[in-house]
Parts: sequence; C-alpha cells; structure tokens
Amino acid sequence: MKPSILVARAVFPETLAKLQQHFDVQANQDDVLWTKPQLIERLQGKAGAFTTGSERIDAEVLAACPGLKLCANMAVGFNNFDLAAMTARGVLATNTPDVLTETTADFGFALLMATARRITESEHFLRAGKWDRWRFDMFAGSEVHGSTLGILGMGRIGQGIAKRGAHGFGMKVIYHNRSRLSPELERACGAAYVSKEDLLRQADHLVLVLPYTPQSHHAIGAAEIALMKPTATLVNIARGGIVDDAALAQALRERRIAAAGLDVFEGEPKVHPDLLTVPNVVLTPHIASATVQTRRAMAELAADNLIGFLVNGKPLTPLNPEVLQGARA
Ligand code: GLV
Ligand code: GLV
Repeated sequence: MKPSILVARAVFPETLAKLQQHFDVQANQDDVLWTKPQLIERLQGKAGAFTTGSERIDAEVLAACPGLKLCANMAVGFNNFDLAAMTARGVLATNTPDVLTETTADFGFALLMATARRITESEHFLRAGKWDRWRFDMFAGSEVHGSTLGILGMGRIGQGIAKRGAHGFGMKVIYHNRSRLSPELERACGAAYVSKEDLLRQADHLVLVLPYTPQSHHAIGAAEIALMKPTATLVNIARGGIVDDAALAQALRERRIAAAGLDVFEGEPKVHPDLLTVPNVVLTPHIASATVQTRRAMAELAADNLIGFLVNGKPLTPLNPEVLQGARA
C-alpha cells in the first residue's frame, strides 16, 4: 500500500502528479486556507505532509497526529515549524535550501535598487497623472554603486547579495552574523565583519537576511533605527517580526531613515496600516523566491524529500537529521 500524504496548499500539477506516483495523496488544489482543527483533521492517517510557510506544525498538531513522520516545507525558512517539538516526537522536517539562493539574492538587490532609486513611488506619481513637467530634484534617490552595503545575516542568500554588491556595484560590503565567515568566504564575498552597532551606523543600505527566531524578534526596532544614517535605506527580505513594523513606519514618516523596501511583514498577509500610508516604502507580497524556475525547483525538492524519506528512507535536506537515527520510514 502506498503511504498517505497531505499536500496542504495548491502546487504545480506536475508536482502533484509526481507525488501521486508514490503516495495516496490528499491535495488542496482549491488552495483553501484551513484552520488548525481542519489541518489536524486532514493529517489523520497521513505519514507525510507537503507544507508551506502558512501551516504551523507545533506540539498540539503533532500530539494530534501520531502517524506523521515527515513535514516537507516548500520554503527555506521554517519558522512555521516548532522544530524542537518535531524532533522530540521523532518527526522529520525538511526545507528547500540552495535552489532559491541566487533568485532570492537577485530580488534582495532588486528591492534595494527600487527603494534607493524610488522606482515604485515615481511610478505611482506617473500613473496618477502628476507628471506635468520636469523638476531638478524629481525623485532624486540615493546612490547604490560605490555606497556601503550592510548585510545582517550572512547565510547563503546574504553571501549572494554581498557578491552582487561588491563585484557588480563596487560597493563596500560590511556584515554582521552570529558567526563570522572564514577568511576565504569573506574574500569571495568582498565583505568585512563588523559589530551590529557598526553595521547600523555605517550602512547606506542595510539588507536583512537572517532567520526568524525568538532571538531575532524585533532585531530592528526604534533603538536600532535610531543608530542608522538619516539617508539610509532598510530592506527586509528575511521574515516579518524581525523588524518592528510600527516603529519602522514611524521612522519613515519622520524621515529618520530615507526609505525602506519590505517583502515580509509582521502578521502577513496583513500589513501594518501605517506602512500603507507612508510614501517612502516599497512593499511586495513575499515574492523574493518567486520565479517560475525557482518555484518549480522548490516544489520539486519538497516532493523529492517526501519520496526520498517515505519511499527510500533518505531525505535530501533534513533540518533535524538526529531524527533519522531512530526512524524507520
Ligand atoms: C521564503 O520566504 C522561504 O523561506 O523560502
Ligand atoms: C538561506 O539559504 C540562507 O542561508 O540565507
């Protein structure tokens, strides 16, 4: 008998077809958002789940679904998983690293440039029919090339952004991270390690690429923003909750920093109402990894983790490999 799995959100038809070759699949191609009790109900009797950032897998879900062996997240971030609870219950977790690194770094740079060069603000102006003549300071933004790029969180994506800045735009790149990169990696990225305080003080453009954890909650709040240059831009492609969005909206309104570019939000898909009314912010709906090729690669990797573990006993990108010691798929 094929193992049963739940695919919690709509996916590419090809992904579903591939999963159906190996599993008895309950899908959600109508992309209905389930409540927690509905998720628990649908997980009954399932050995695996294909999840996205919108399904919270916590101790309550795990206790109610004792047959569950694997949750394969179609995302590199996994703050929707209570990883400790999963490990304690012997449930394997996987994510989709690497396949989205360069695509997400591209988007980080796109958002940085849109923010610094005021691209969306100027488009709104044009669409609103306000362009009746040229003005010498019309949408004058801040320089990108040759400026100082600060990166908070120097994982794979942070390193991709550093390389773009250092090698493509002649930027001085500084970073802060829990652990320092090797000298070889620092050289390859053209990046110098500094304290968090120096990063905040020196960056012309600060890009956030760190994972969301209890320790990184509000890593950027009013106190941190106060250290930044009044001409600085802030870009968040990491996770909502890393920035205190209310404090940021206030700082943007008071021009204590020049501008912000945000792809992620506290409590998304809701957006803090004050962010919607300040002009100097570029807002995108969590799309940093969204190219056709990369979303396909992410779906493929999540599916291959399900097949790899539940069919062959070998997941590709486990987050809690310690579970494998005691596990039999
Ligand atoms: C998207 O935010 C991801 O974590 O892949
Ligand atoms: C994610 O892949 C990261 O390490 O930044």
